[in-house]
Amino acid sequence: MMDIRKTLIALAAALSTGAVASADEGMWLPALISQRIEHMQQKGFTLDAEDIYSINNASLKDAVVLFGGGCTAEVVSPEGLLFTNHHCGYSQIQKHSSVEHDYLKDGFWALDREEELPNPGLSVMFLEYMQDVTSVLEKAQDRQAAIDSLKAAAVSGGKGLKASVEEFYYGNQYFLFVYKEFTDVRLVGAPPSSIGKFGGDTDNWMWPRHTGDFSIFRIYAGKDNEPADYSIENVPYRPKKYFKIATGGLDEGDFTFIYGFPGSTREYVTSEEIRYIAEVSDPAKIALRTLRLGNMKKYMDMSQDIRIRYSSKYANVSNSWKKWQGESGGIRRNATVATRKEYEGRFRQWAQGGPYEGLLDRLDSLYALMEPVAFAGEYMRESALSVELPAFATAYADAADETKEKTATEFYRDWWLPIDKENFIALMTAYGKNVPERLRPAYFDEQLSRYGSVEAWADEIFGGGLAREDLSDPGNDPALLFRREFTRFYNDTIAPRHAGLRDEIDRLYKDYMRAQMEFEPDRDFYPDANLTLRVAYGNVAGYEPSDGIRYKPFSTLAGIMEKDNPEIFDYNVPQKLRDLYASGLYDDMPVCFIATNHTSGGNSGSPVINAEGNLVGLNFDRVWEGTMSDLDFDPAFCRNICLDIRYLLFVVDKVCGAGSLLQELEFVE
Ligand code: ARG
Ligand code: GLU
Repeated sequence: MMDIRKTLIALAAALSTGAVASADEGMWLPALISQRIEHMQQKGFTLDAEDIYSINNASLKDAVVLFGGGCTAEVVSPEGLLFTNHHCGYSQIQKHSSVEHDYLKDGFWALDREEELPNPGLSVMFLEYMQDVTSVLEKAQDRQAAIDSLKAAAVSGGKGLKASVEEFYYGNQYFLFVYKEFTDVRLVGAPPSSIGKFGGDTDNWMWPRHTGDFSIFRIYAGKDNEPADYSIENVPYRPKKYFKIATGGLDEGDFTFIYGFPGSTREYVTSEEIRYIAEVSDPAKIALRTLRLGNMKKYMDMSQDIRIRYSSKYANVSNSWKKWQGESGGIRRNATVATRKEYEGRFRQWAQGGPYEGLLDRLDSLYALMEPVAFAGEYMRESALSVELPAFATAYADAADETKEKTATEFYRDWWLPIDKENFIALMTAYGKNVPERLRPAYFDEQLSRYGSVEAWADEIFGGGLAREDLSDPGNDPALLFRREFTRFYNDTIAPRHAGLRDEIDRLYKDYMRAQMEFEPDRDFYPDANLTLRVAYGNVAGYEPSDGIRYKPFSTLAGIMEKDNPEIFDYNVPQKLRDLYASGLYDDMPVCFIATNHTSGGNSGSPVINAEGNLVGLNFDRVWEGTMSDLDFDPAFCRNICLDIRYLLFVVDKVCGAGSLLQELEFVE
């Protein structure tokens, strides 16, 4: 219930911040969070900057990790237990699965420490500290040498230390990041996919959502509590800090804060770059993936065997395909290109007669030179380089002798020739239509005239030994030659031209970024995401996706049952969950909620933290009307999607019977 006190606080906060700093946009650097803390507190946060990030004391940052190099996870117990998303642990869960133990399908629970499963190659990284090194690097004669020595000094004298220097604001600022990496991370639990991936690709990027997107791991350390490679001697890691679990839930309007590792955003680029992404690149890539998804689906619908072979490939192809649609649609709806052009008009006027005069014109003309090259590169990656057999042919040819057999077995297990061949025909037909001759390999046109049609050419590519699982002469296989010709053209022609222009553009972007900060001295500029730790804060809020529709910010178990349909793979609710629902005790069980936090890919698994600093959920997605937030954040449409922690607890305990695991957690209201 929204009580009157909260209403008044929210109202006061809204009035005191006014329209400035457009509410909740921004992914802030934790070491500089004191600059935002007042705003966070106005919005309801009750802790201080030092509670979020401190170098001298344990703080919330010590409970957040980069998981597997692309997701976020959080420590939730004094014994190193980690929560992250199901889709972040997916490949580990899959690797431990077999026909006898299908953990993807049935879930997995280690109720004993001995049953927890090691994951070679998986690591987590804690941020030890970050430090502004801009002035050091600006003074340095040799920048790369200075970076190397900063990094070397930072990692000396500590186990598992890793350092990196990252640029911010297009090279106007540099920070050193020092991490501690743990490499013994074990799988503890995962719900069945019918919960962890409920809704599948159908619901992906969408609200209302009912996915129980979580999995559970544990960090192990040496006896000294320091990083150590896997060993049965290792012991559960004792963290400096872990999250307490808040069971009281949230109301609409409540403060939330996301602490995690967003991967990449471009918020300060020119209207030309946004136009290219939204009007040229996204639509072209969407069209190519529509062709591939159509071919996959046609055959997946025909056979259970093919559906299994292609389910993970389909999910990957479809994830970006759907995101790009949301992104280009959002840019169109918001007229972002026109708004940015109008902004650039004002910028140009301001810049007249000063050091930045002509800067945007130079950027625009370089961009015009780069655009066709960038397009040819992206198009090739999404077409010629996406055909499976040629990609396998090179991987097989390049594999070390002892891994060749495994490479081949894994490829053929999940491959279906008719899908790949039809993809080849569709993709290469589109390639010929959409990429100009000067930006494609001569080989393409030679082969086409040699065979007379893409179809006849496909018969050749898919008529070699490799297409028949005959590995006796892979070096002369037509599929291998195809891939080699395209990569050669890419590496020799496209990539160097693109990189040359990109470097020049990036140098100008550095000036343009600084200029924008001078042009709008009162605006709050946060740095673009670059897979470093960030704080994003906002409130639980619904939204209006289109005229006449208002989305509530919460979903419940009742909604799962509304979607239940044993005929549809994505919506086949596990019987145990049906039974629990039928008991009538859990009608209002919360499942997911949405909020206004500014997140991006990489924030999957991030802790969703309440006003008191406790864990209320796990971030796992965005709504697709708002996926343009990587380029243009709009508070009306941009929402992140979170798993409610109470659903996680319910699934572990009541659905999966693994409640004993929860004993090591610490609960608060
Ligand atoms: N859209 C989320 C993200 O970008 C979830 C992706 C995994 N789920 C899926 N159905 N493919 O990573
Ligand atoms: N699912 C995304 C991830 O894996 C997060 C969603 C987003 O892009 O915001 O990081």
